[in-house]
Amino acid sequence: MNITIIGTGYVGLTSGTCFAEVGHHVTCVDNNPEKVEILLRGEVPIYEPGLAELVKQNVAAGRLKFTTSTEEGVRHGDVIFIAVPTPPQPDGSVDLSFIEKVAREIAQCLTPETGYRVIVDKSTVPVKTGEKVAETVRRYAPAGVEFGVVSNPEFLREGCAVDDLLNPDRIVIGSNDERALGLMQKLYEPFVAPVLVTDINSAELIKHAANSFLALKISYINAVATICEATGADVEKVAEGIGMDKRIGRQFLNAGLGYGGSCFPKDIKAFIAISEAIGQPFHLLKEVERINAAQLDRFLNKIREKLWVFREKKIALWGLAFKQNTDDVRESVAIRLAKKMIAEGATIVATDPQAIDTAQRLAGLTGPGISFTDDPYACLDGADALVIATEWPQFAAVDLNEIRKRLRTPLVFDGRNLLDPKDAAAAGLEYFSIGR
Ligand SMILES: NC(=O)c1ccc[n+]([C@@H]2O[C@H](COP(=O)([O-])OP(=O)(O)OC[C@H]3O[C@@H](n4cnc5c(N)ncnc54)[C@H](O)[C@@H]3O)[C@@H](O)[C@H]2O)c1
Repeated sequence: MNITIIGTGYVGLTSGTCFAEVGHHVTCVDNNPEKVEILLRGEVPIYEPGLAELVKQNVAAGRLKFTTSTEEGVRHGDVIFIAVPTPPQPDGSVDLSFIEKVAREIAQCLTPETGYRVIVDKSTVPVKTGEKVAETVRRYAPAGVEFGVVSNPEFLREGCAVDDLLNPDRIVIGSNDERALGLMQKLYEPFVAPVLVTDINSAELIKHAANSFLALKISYINAVATICEATGADVEKVAEGIGMDKRIGRQFLNAGLGYGGSCFPKDIKAFIAISEAIGQPFHLLKEVERINAAQLDRFLNKIREKLWVFREKKIALWGLAFKQNTDDVRESVAIRLAKKMIAEGATIVATDPQAIDTAQRLAGLTGPGISFTDDPYACLDGADALVIATEWPQFAAVDLNEIRKRLRTPLVFDGRNLLDPKDAAAAGLEYFSIGR
């Protein structure tokens, strides 16, 4: 099928590439000319494992194209996906101006001769956004244009997006238009995954409800971790014991610095705002946010307790990305942690396998208090402490004796429970982690 994706970011580029990989003809549109230029040069503007090779192969096969022209995209795609940002506003509600703009742009490119088009919302949006998109397209398109609107929320995880897209747990398609649903089912035929067909409002709600539930699981285990710490229990064992129950599952029960990234913080805020707007405030989610925010403060206190003061201390920081296997630093707890330590007078030497550039360029982690190195061991030379803030597997596979040798004082604060406390102690490290 001919498909167009409007918005060629983490979601648009990876999903467009995977649609091409299963045989569809995909045009990816982005209004950022620099991004399109990079893609046209054969490079990929983000780091996502396996993506660069797939982009190259599908471009070579003639199934994947890039353009800045929405008009070209609308002409090409029988199905047009919207994958633009839906950032939070200061009050937590979603800024839908990107979606509204794309809806108008699509409408203005449609003509009665274009033929029937399916307009699919892949961005994470509040329930009832599809109705607004349909209304907007109807208002701005010439009379006689035929289209259907679908919600097809995306559940990919950055860091394993390609695999998640090619082998999803489920595909959710919501629409009140039978013709659109038929085309969407055909589009997803090459994927071996259960397809859940719903009305459009339910599909939109599934995404916010799913992300809020996952965030709740993280905050739940973090609250349990605090109780473990106070009682001498081990949160890793507790999580294992809880997670062995099939009704609960082990995933997302990792105690640590809390959730960050471009999705959870904003999606939970959005769901709270939606609930408040309809007069049914979802208080539970406020508590999820409160626990999450407290994790970073508690961790900082732990460091403060040992270092006494940050001023004139050199800290080695392992991790800048909001999680492993990505260069994404949006809402990264690691970045927030670095900025707080610098504000208190510490000097940071940071490393990250992929996110050094994005941390400086996009998260503004620059200035006299911070320097960077690609080598995790080099960070440690003469440092007063090592702080681990991102769960990169590389950091779990380090030589603990080398850490001990290079640090000026052998303090290690592990915000992601990556190291084994017994091994750390055996190497002569004073080791502090979360909930154990
Ligand atoms: N990143 C994730 O892990 C993830 C997962 C599931 C869902 N989502 C949702 O998907 C949506 C997109 O997220 P993302 O992380 O891909 O964002 P992103 O910022 O990486 O990409 C969005 C892209 O849209 C482009 N864009 C903005 N306005 C445009 C316009 N008018 N025409 C063409 N292009 C335009 C931007 O230039 C950018 O390249 C959001 O709603 C997000 O919540 C993200």
